[in-house]
Amino acid sequence: MQLQEFTLERIQSLYENLVELNLSDSGVHPYKLSELLTSEQQAELLELELGYGWTNGFVELRETIANLYHNRNSDEVIVTNGSAEANFLMVMSVLKPGDELIVVVPNYLQIAGWAKALEVEVKEVPLLQGTGWLPDLDMLESLVTDKTRMLTICHPNNPTGSTLPLSQIEKLVDFAKKHDIYLHADEVYKGAEFDGVELPSFADLYDKAIVTSGLSKAMAMPGLRLGWLVGPAEEIYATWQSKDYTSITTSSVSEYVANIVLQPEMRSKVLNRSKELLTENLSIMQQWIDENSDWVSFIPPKAGGMAFVRYELDVNSTQLAHELRENLSVFVLPGDVYGMDGYFRVGIGAPAEHLRVGLARIADYVRHQYLGGKS
Ligand SMILES: Cc1ncc(COP(=O)(O)O)c(C=O)c1O
Repeated sequence: MQLQEFTLERIQSLYENLVELNLSDSGVHPYKLSELLTSEQQAELLELELGYGWTNGFVELRETIANLYHNRNSDEVIVTNGSAEANFLMVMSVLKPGDELIVVVPNYLQIAGWAKALEVEVKEVPLLQGTGWLPDLDMLESLVTDKTRMLTICHPNNPTGSTLPLSQIEKLVDFAKKHDIYLHADEVYKGAEFDGVELPSFADLYDKAIVTSGLSKAMAMPGLRLGWLVGPAEEIYATWQSKDYTSITTSSVSEYVANIVLQPEMRSKVLNRSKELLTENLSIMQQWIDENSDWVSFIPPKAGGMAFVRYELDVNSTQLAHELRENLSVFVLPGDVYGMDGYFRVGIGAPAEHLRVGLARIADYVRHQYLGGKS
């Protein structure tokens, strides 16, 4: 098995903790435990027995997660270490060498990376910037063969922050139904829609949908490493077998907290905080784009903690990101990690002041370094 470097994650883990202003994250500035738990819950947590628990997640938590979807039960849910493990288990359990996988790109690329290592053939369908990052649906049909086993999409999308209108969601579901293939959706950014209207889950639209999600992004708790998969019971059972071979269980501390924050009232409180922070930051971002429209542009994101910025400078995106990091101690993610040079991704889930100062430094640097001091 040959795994390619996961450049997106590697470049972040190398540098994000070494800069003054990290604008490379895609989630919302994290919570502290003390902001989430009442004093009774904090006391209860201290008394928690640190046993293994259930390898597929404790039943109550699986029921709480199942209740986030229509007509799902605890056998259709497995709790994982982040949505990253959910993605991994899903690929390892559902795909096999020789299968074909259609990936809507740009994408987080973890699924495609594992699939390639497993000798699954990966075919790409682009989201087109010209249409506001909608998928090229005509191209989809031309990629299907009798080996096509799954279509995978990241929705809301990383890195563009785009979401699909209902009509397009339905078209993707119809396509998967027509060809009787799995439809996998990574929905870890769902719940952080700026207009406050939560998107439907693919899990509620198709019985062969497999959905990955977790607490890291819209819910702003990446340190809990708590994710899940929802899908048909048989496939979820297969992922459970793989989990027994990998991490065995998730942390009992994280499961305890997850079962509190995923109760409906608490979940909406958490998501409202995300929306408020992101909406304020999107206006900072929009203003910066307007002030710098001679060299940057973007399609404003609709959800999630990131903006995907197109730039008109004669410099490669990885080089630019390193220059900004070394000279300004500001870190943005280069488009190269998605195979899209000419873009960089800015985390808009950062504290507003970080975003404001970081963006100002970038504009100032670029004006002097690349635009001959023009303002
Ligand atoms: C789309 C997507 N899926 C999954 C992950 C993995 O996140 P976690 O394991 O923290 O849930 C990320 C991380 O950036 C992501 O962007």
